[in-house]
Amino acid sequence: METGPISDNTTEASPYGGASVIAFVNEKGGGAKTTSCVNLAAAFAQRGQKVLCIDLDPQANATTALGVSAERAIEREAHCLLTMPRFPLERAITNTQIANLDFIPASARLADCNKTLVMEVGREGRLRSKLRDFYRSVLTEKYDAILMDCPPSLDLLSINALTAATHMIVPVTTKFYALKGMALLGEMVATLHEQLGATVKLLGILVTMFDKKTALDVTIYRLLKEKIEGEFGDYVFSTMITKSVVVSEAEAGGLPVLLREPDSRAARAYKELADELVARLGREIGKTAVASRPLAAARAN
Ligand SMILES: Nc1ncnc2c1ncn2[C@@H]1O[C@H](COP(=O)(O)OP(=O)(O)O)[C@@H](O)[C@H]1O
Ligand SMILES: [Mg+2]
Repeated sequence: METGPISDNTTEASPYGGASVIAFVNEKGGGAKTTSCVNLAAAFAQRGQKVLCIDLDPQANATTALGVSAERAIEREAHCLLTMPRFPLERAITNTQIANLDFIPASARLADCNKTLVMEVGREGRLRSKLRDFYRSVLTEKYDAILMDCPPSLDLLSINALTAATHMIVPVTTKFYALKGMALLGEMVATLHEQLGATVKLLGILVTMFDKKTALDVTIYRLLKEKIEGEFGDYVFSTMITKSVVVSEAEAGGLPVLLREPDSRAARAYKELADELVARLGREIGKTAVASRPLAAARAN
């Protein structure tokens, strides 16, 4: 069993005591952000790490996927955290049925944040300051990793996540539009680095819902990998998640596939991905803000 922060040990770069804060982003919906976020959170928790997952999508899919009821989500949710300056992170946290995995749920009213916060000073950094306060406090039990599920748009909720994050993972399907979305994201990350002092780094691009029996998927995967490697660098995770009906069945049942069908191919892939992620984080020692340059290069496209 592993314990301790999942991190690259670049403590000056991490305001969270070395813990990794990972945002799952892509402005396209349906690319398996939520699925990847909850299953990776479960995979880390199973390895013995203390994990916090935060649902930042008003559609509240991660909340459903982790079996947290709407009633529980109303009292403790990301909305309070973002709109109420004195609402501390620990008050929004609830437990889940999975050992080592805590959660901050979402509900539809999270969508109001985009309007409520629009006139507020420091609106982009709300989540970051709550996380910093949480890690500074001596009274709270700390997490080794925090995984944030973002909405399918680059709105104020995603901006809050990216401003707070140490890393981001971009899940993509093997579709031609995948690279277009990455260019937009690259632009936004560059702006956040320049204007808000964000330090988020690209951890990797995750190919999901891959169907190796479909010739088109195979072709697009090859093109996608070539293009990403050419423009961004060695960022595509070698683990890919194949298409499998057990994933959506498990989600509908309020439990990640990793726990419902632990021997399924998808569950094994997410466990493998957790290993790859830890290795990647380890490899990063000494590097800072590597993603801003290669990602910004996407602007030229
Ligand atoms: N590997 C997979 N195989 C089959 N279906 C999947 C897989 N991953 C995700 N799905 C399904 O695809 C849909 C979109 O996934 P989701 O994680 O909600 O995407 P996003 O959060 O990016 O919008 C969901 O219904 C989910 O259950
Ligand atoms: Mg989602």
